Amino acid sequence: MKQKEQRNWWKEGVVYQVYPRSFKDSNGDGIGDLQGIIAGLDYIKSLGVDIIWLNPIYASPNADNGYDISNYREIMKEFGTLEDFDRLLQEVHARGLKLVLDLVVNHTSDEHPWFIEARKSRNNPYYAYYHWWPVEKESPPFRPGYFEPSAWSYNRTTRSWYLHYFSRKQPDLNWENPEVREEIYNLMGFWFEKGIDGFRMDSITLISKDTTFPPIDRKKHPDIFSYYAHGPHLHDYLHEMNRRVVSRYEVMTVGEGSALDDKDVAAFVDPDREELNMLYGFGPSDVRMYTRPDTPNSGIGYSLIALKKMFGRWDKAVGKGWPAVYLGNHDQPRMLSRFGNDAPEFRQYAAKMLATLLLTLRGTPYWFAGDEIGMKNADFNRIEDYRDIATWNQYREIERKGEDVKAFLEIQRHTSRDNARTPFQWNSTFQAGFTIGNPWIRVNTDYSEINVACQERDPWSVLNYFRRLVAFRKAHPEMVYGSYTVLDIENPQVYSYLRESPGHRFLVVLNFSPKPAAAWLDIDLSGAEIKFSNYESAGGKERIKSLRPFEALLITCS
Ligand code: NOJ
Repeated sequence: MKQKEQRNWWKEGVVYQVYPRSFKDSNGDGIGDLQGIIAGLDYIKSLGVDIIWLNPIYASPNADNGYDISNYREIMKEFGTLEDFDRLLQEVHARGLKLVLDLVVNHTSDEHPWFIEARKSRNNPYYAYYHWWPVEKESPPFRPGYFEPSAWSYNRTTRSWYLHYFSRKQPDLNWENPEVREEIYNLMGFWFEKGIDGFRMDSITLISKDTTFPPIDRKKHPDIFSYYAHGPHLHDYLHEMNRRVVSRYEVMTVGEGSALDDKDVAAFVDPDREELNMLYGFGPSDVRMYTRPDTPNSGIGYSLIALKKMFGRWDKAVGKGWPAVYLGNHDQPRMLSRFGNDAPEFRQYAAKMLATLLLTLRGTPYWFAGDEIGMKNADFNRIEDYRDIATWNQYREIERKGEDVKAFLEIQRHTSRDNARTPFQWNSTFQAGFTIGNPWIRVNTDYSEINVACQERDPWSVLNYFRRLVAFRKAHPEMVYGSYTVLDIENPQVYSYLRESPGHRFLVVLNFSPKPAAAWLDIDLSGAEIKFSNYESAGGKERIKSLRPFEALLITCS
């Protein structure tokens, strides 16, 4: 254990991310809701996880599934009411769990009363709540959007363009305006006073902007989006937010670290700077698929070496802070399809192997609901199946330009965010037990084999393996706090690392390929004992030299 690492519940806990729209529908409208989450709490508790993070549940016209908020103090109609929320919070706490909400304050919905006012006239007091570029200055400076080619949209009444890094339905708030910051701190206080246990902060690295909107120096920011994360007052605002509101409560914060360079990460999470507790980066999405220069024969569709380097860099990048680690979430395809293998013969081994990785890395694991039963990508091949604004906007653009929409759809099958947003698979009844109505997005066709009910009955299921691993992690704080050292960075098929602290040494060996493989290890294994294996017949430690496809071993060494 590192001498100075201070113990905290948010370091030792496992975060379980629930996408409310897709978790459980209680009233048959085809959309998951708060009562559905309440009904699922005993299941969540049974996993052994500690902290539930909910994607946005606030009032929203749902251009981007709740990441476009029209009222920060109300619940989305489809999800329920504030009374449902109070009950949910109470039930979460009654089970000894914590509840973390999503804070989306880089932007609002264009249907938020502030923006409805702002767009009426330049003299409206709310005009200054957003970023504008007046016609007198001619066309606005080049800023691409994440969801649209341009991040500026024209508003006729004010004769000016407004800024929206995401869709035109998501205008960016002007944090330079102290009144805006005050509003945000107040709304955070509203939820903290209710008793929530923290916030995951959406797009938080983008909140500060240079309001002169200078041309972007492409040499300094070859990836233009990285410019968005380098606003001049970003750290001042995070520190102010911490002092004014967060530090008054016993809560955790985790920022979404969009567009950051590694060298900039530590500043957000250094405890002395009083900004955020954790930040998660976009590392996993940078490990590109389809590139395998170092793994020509391994059968892995991406570079495992790049994945190892990414986790290694992240472990260092946090400096004095604490890492947040994940392999999938609502913005990524399913981790099994992306980093494992969802073919029937490998699926359960690969899902367990990835669970072993995430639960034994240094840092708080962020687990996406459904991964514990090995849910896979949606496999949509028609645009009509998709719901995501990102996919639809790109599709329309490609169609407009007369480009190859078929090729685009093929890429989306592997990369679309909707891959991770299909309904949670509870059982093999109609619509996977998610709803008695028409689900807002198609249920994955494999639900009759892959679901919670089946896996409850099987002691060797992915689900029960996940539970055992979570329990092991909980019983061994040294696994949480020990140092992380990768042992075989150049091995293209196997990922091995040590987790060490005084008196404890864990070795993790993971075969990422569908072929047998050997670990490259140069350490003393006398006294080593296998604690976990994802195969029923674990065998002895000689297995390390001949790992089976997707085999995972967790070994204690003396
Ligand atoms: C990041 C969220 O995770 C994503 O789902 C959303 O579309 C954007 N931020 C905009 O809020």
